Amino acid sequence: MRTIDSLGDLDGKTVLVRSDFNVPLKDGVITDDGRIRAALPTIRRLLDAGAAVLISAHLGRPGGKVNPDFSLAPVATRLSELLGQPVVLADDVTGDSAKAVAADLKPGQVALLENVRFDARETSKVDTERQELAAEYAALADAYVSDGFGVVHRKQASVYDIAELLPSAAGELVFKEIDSLSKATDNPARPYVVILGGSKVSDKLGVIANLLSKADALLIGGGMAYTFLKAQGFEVGKSLLEEDQVETVKGYMETAKKNGVELVLPVDAVVAPEFAADAPATVVPASEIPEDQMGLDIGPASGELFAEYIMNAKTIAWNGPMGVFEFEAFANGTKAVAAALEATEAFTVVGGGDSAAAVRILGFDESKFSHISTGGGASLELLEGKTLPGIAILED
Ligand code: 3PG
Repeated sequence: MRTIDSLGDLDGKTVLVRSDFNVPLKDGVITDDGRIRAALPTIRRLLDAGAAVLISAHLGRPGGKVNPDFSLAPVATRLSELLGQPVVLADDVTGDSAKAVAADLKPGQVALLENVRFDARETSKVDTERQELAAEYAALADAYVSDGFGVVHRKQASVYDIAELLPSAAGELVFKEIDSLSKATDNPARPYVVILGGSKVSDKLGVIANLLSKADALLIGGGMAYTFLKAQGFEVGKSLLEEDQVETVKGYMETAKKNGVELVLPVDAVVAPEFAADAPATVVPASEIPEDQMGLDIGPASGELFAEYIMNAKTIAWNGPMGVFEFEAFANGTKAVAAALEATEAFTVVGGGDSAAAVRILGFDESKFSHISTGGGASLELLEGKTLPGIAILED
C-alpha cells in the first residue's frame, strides 16, 4: 500500500484528504468525536510538510441531495478546535464555493468541502458518473490521501475513483488500521478468539462464515445470540429473533463442530418485559427465557465465561455490544467483555461502530486496547476476508 512518503515533496502542494467524519450527532451536537481525533495525525503531518489540506468527507446518508441537517458545519467547528487553527467550510462539494476555497488555500491551512453525499454521483453505480465527480475533485488538488478508513469498503468517487486521477497514498489512519487489523486477520497468534455481538445475525453472516475456518473460538452475544439460542432448541420469549436465519445458524453450528471451532453462546441472560431503560431486569438461564420477557443483555455467568476465553487468548477481535449498553441495567455484559479486553496483555482489536463507542461511553481506557478501529462496516469486511476497493486502489 502506498504511503504518504511515496508522494514526495509536498511543500506548497494542495493535498485532498478523504476523511471519515461520519460522527454521531444529537440535536446538532457531536456526541463522539473519535473519528475527528483519529484524522489529526495525517492532517498535522501534511501541514508540517508544508502542504495545504483540503478535506472531503461524508456525514450520514442524505441520498445525493443537499440537506442542511447533514451539513459538515459541526465537524468544521470541532476540527478547528482540535487543530487549534481555523477550518473554512465550503458551501458545496466541488462547485463555485469549493473552487474558491481551494484557490485561496495557503500552505499550512485547512479547509473542508461540504458533505460529498450531497452529490448523487458520489455513490453512483455508474462508473462514468463517479469518475466525473472524481475529476472535479482532482482539479482542486495536486495529490490525494485516503484516510477515511470507515469508508474504504465503499467504491465511491471520493474514495476510489479519485485515487486513479491524482498521485495517491494511504494516510496514517488507514495505514494503522490495516496494519493492526491484519494482525488479527492474517496469521493471528493463537488462541484466536472473536466476540461478536450487535442486533442482527443477518449483518454478520459473511464474517461468521469466514471465522468458522479461522478462529479458535467464536463467542456470540448481543441481540444476535437469541437466534443462536433458538437454533439450539431453546425458546427466547420476546427477544430479538431472526426466524429466517435459524437454519443458517444451525449450519454454522455444524461447521463449527466439524472444524473444531468452539461456538460459545450465553449461558444466562438479563431479561425485561419491554425495551426500556427503566424496565425491571431479571437474570435467567439462557435456556429458560420466559415467554413474556426479552433478553436485553448477556447475564453475569456469561460475562465471566466470555472473560475467561478472553484471558486465555493471544489474539482477540471484538465487534458488536453484548446488550443494550445505552441502558445502565443492560450494560454489564458489554462492560464485562470490555474489562477483560482492557485487562489482558494479548493483542486486542475492537471493531468500530457501536463497540468502539461503547468502550468510550462506558469509560474504559482506550490506551489499554491494542487497536480500536474507526471503521464499522470496513473492519467487519476485513474480518470477513474481503478485498476492500478503497485499499486495493492504493496498492502498487
Ligand atoms: C460508517 O459510519 O461506517 C462509515 O462512515 C460508512 O458509512 P456508510 O455505511 O453510510 O457508507
